[in-house]
Amino acid sequence: MTNSTGADAILEPTAALGDHVRIEALSSDEKMGRRVHGVDLSKPLSPEAAAAVVALLDQHRIVSFPGQDANGCTVADLERLANHFGAPIPHPYNYANYQEFIRTGEPLRVHDVEGRVSTRVNAAFPGEIECWDGADSPAVYIVTNLDGSGPDAEVVAKGGQHWHTDIEFQPIPLSTSMFFVQRVPTHRNRGEGTWVTNPPREEGFYHPDSAADLAERREVLPLNGETAYTDTARAYAALTLDERDMLDNIMVRRRRRRDDEGWLIPLVYTNPRTGLKSLHSPVWASRGKRIAPVEVDGMNEDESRLFLDRIEAHCLKPEFRYDHVHTPGDITIWSNFATMHTAPPSLSTVNDPGDARLLYRISCKGEPSAELPRQDDDAWINKNIEPPFRSELS
Ligand SMILES: [Fe+2]
Repeated sequence: MTNSTGADAILEPTAALGDHVRIEALSSDEKMGRRVHGVDLSKPLSPEAAAAVVALLDQHRIVSFPGQDANGCTVADLERLANHFGAPIPHPYNYANYQEFIRTGEPLRVHDVEGRVSTRVNAAFPGEIECWDGADSPAVYIVTNLDGSGPDAEVVAKGGQHWHTDIEFQPIPLSTSMFFVQRVPTHRNRGEGTWVTNPPREEGFYHPDSAADLAERREVLPLNGETAYTDTARAYAALTLDERDMLDNIMVRRRRRRDDEGWLIPLVYTNPRTGLKSLHSPVWASRGKRIAPVEVDGMNEDESRLFLDRIEAHCLKPEFRYDHVHTPGDITIWSNFATMHTAPPSLSTVNDPGDARLLYRISCKGEPSAELPRQDDDAWINKNIEPPFRSELS
């Protein structure tokens, strides 16, 4: 497998991107996240530029490239970009027969035109909002409230998400996720700074006995933002040496179902390219009832919860947190090894295009690859990409 994120690129990533490239902090120099101006992601990246972009993410945990719509960037271009960060994973909802595939092993079939999410999105406000090219790839998850929406639809609100890391519950977890933003709501509840007044509460994610400081930090909504992130690398670095030494030796057992044997993985992730350490998804049970809670090796369930709750409370302190406001045209990439995130309450069905959300998400796993096409072998794909998938946009 090609993994040519060279040391030079890590030390000085902007040199490979050109003198015209300008980088600014998303919020402040002290916090994670950088906005990178002047990179045209509608065109294939040279291996050196790709290595530099991967290195920027390694250094800053979140990297946002504004104005890519003006470059003519498509969702297919996003998928090509994603291939540099890892092997894109497909989303099951893109397949017409995913359940049959799981049950009987019959070959997967993508939806025909009528069954596609993009077809329903395009039907919401015809002539006004239409999905960008490339949206129908199996690798693309369309994050939207336009499916089922339209001028005559009844407006429905949904509660916010829980703090989590995307797909941390597989033996090879997701390394990277990215959004390409087409539409975000122009209507805001400016008084409270959120999208929804008195949103419904989503139940079942958090243990009722969570400590008061943790419960409070979990509930702080991102003001006028769509994704709140916390920096688990900076949170780790802020601990005392003794605390870091102790955490360095912690192994956690992750499993999908309670009766699975699961597998052990270090709580502290060490980036193989930079050596930067971070707390990988230090939450006890982020998936409600669907995924089994994490067990700290050597602790029982209650001990594991109390231990991880203290780490989560530390990670959710305001000094490690950054609330991202998405802007149409942005491609925003985040590391799943060094951040956690959540989303605020929003409208899930709308009757006004001003309330529309339309973002394209691609996630990937495995090693970065400066050169394309990726060289993942079939055995690795079949074992780690669920369902098995190889991006054609390498
Ligand atoms: Fe997520």
